[in-house]
Amino acid sequence: MAQIRIENVRKDFGSFNAVKSSSFTIEDGEFFMLLGPSGCGKTTTLRMMAGLDLPTSGQIYIDGEEVGQKPASQRDIAFVFQMFALYPHLNVGKNISYPLVSQGMPKAEVKKKVGEIAEILGITDILDRPVGGLSGGDRQRVALGRAIVRDPKAFFMDEPLGALDAEFREHMSEELRALHDRMKATTVYVTHDQLEAMQMGDKIVVMNHGVVEQFGVPQDIYDWPATKFVAEFIGSPPMNFLDFHGMVGTGETKVSFGEAQFNIPAQREGMNGDLTFGVRPEHIRLDDTAAFRGRIAATEYLGTTQIVTVETSNGAIKARVASSDTAKVGDQTGLHFDPRTITLFDASSGRALHSEANEGVLTHG
Ligand SMILES: Nc1ncnc2c1ncn2[C@@H]1O[C@H](COP(=O)(O)OP(=O)(O)OP(=O)(O)O)[C@@H](O)[C@H]1O
Ligand SMILES: [Mg+2]
Repeated sequence: MAQIRIENVRKDFGSFNAVKSSSFTIEDGEFFMLLGPSGCGKTTTLRMMAGLDLPTSGQIYIDGEEVGQKPASQRDIAFVFQMFALYPHLNVGKNISYPLVSQGMPKAEVKKKVGEIAEILGITDILDRPVGGLSGGDRQRVALGRAIVRDPKAFFMDEPLGALDAEFREHMSEELRALHDRMKATTVYVTHDQLEAMQMGDKIVVMNHGVVEQFGVPQDIYDWPATKFVAEFIGSPPMNFLDFHGMVGTGETKVSFGEAQFNIPAQREGMNGDLTFGVRPEHIRLDDTAAFRGRIAATEYLGTTQIVTVETSNGAIKARVASSDTAKVGDQTGLHFDPRTITLFDASSGRALHSEANEGVLTHG
């Protein structure tokens, strides 16, 4: 079990700066997600925590001890890669026991330990089988068993389900999360899939171009994105953005652009200039009495809800409304935004302005 703390960690590959000054803390027993698009520095960050790469500068602490310049062999981390390489000539039980046998653990102890792990993973009945003929799921369980068996301080997984098809992926992600809940081992999990991160993670770090954009529990990151990047990367459809030029004062609870005025959470910081008004699709209501109006350009039926695209003079807006809502392409409609959920951004930096609603939640890079 381990707490892992990253402080101002940076990684350069030659003249290329892959990870910029990153800081966050993974608490003991957490299921922690490193989320971001391809190339943002997830694998590099994980490899530095594991000791497979050394940071160019900054500190890495495991249980309070600075390990930044120590090799992987001194960190006691189990790494689970996407490609689960098993030893093809060994059976299931021998694949799992391999790390213990090579440590020289006595036979009886190995047998007991492998039995326990097999029980946890639900593979007791296949311990004598060759790994060759196993299904993908069982191969994954065997690989996990081999990682778990030596009781590491933490598990690091880099897109472990990336190669699986959607249905099986969902099944395995539930299984991984359930396994974590039984074992309570600190787990760091890399993914570029925002849904997977939201579903599985206790906490999420969102990275972009080597920068930590935000760090927190999934709901805070969803409800109160620290940057436009986070607001767009998380949520499907993403948050709507309406750009306008104007002013908000400190303590302001209204903002206006075009013909309409909108209620917003009391602003803790004022700004004069290019602003972006952000609202999530599910916080919008089609309301004929609302002053902000547009033309319905498309409807997309999704079962219990539908996505309605409305063209406005400030750009297109996507609203998630009940399927029973009778929105017709070509109709004019008013749009009502739930005022408690509005986030204003500085349009040029992309940073969210502080308001009463998002106070204490925003942690920006
Ligand atoms: N050994 C290396 N030498 C040079 N550049 C590297 C090296 N390893 C990674 N990079 C670069 O650093 C950046 C971050 O890479 P990294 O593998 O950490 O991204 P990632 O977020 O894991 O992406 P993906 O989702 O595609 O796996 C990329 O631009 C990559 O090309
Ligand atoms: Mg990667």
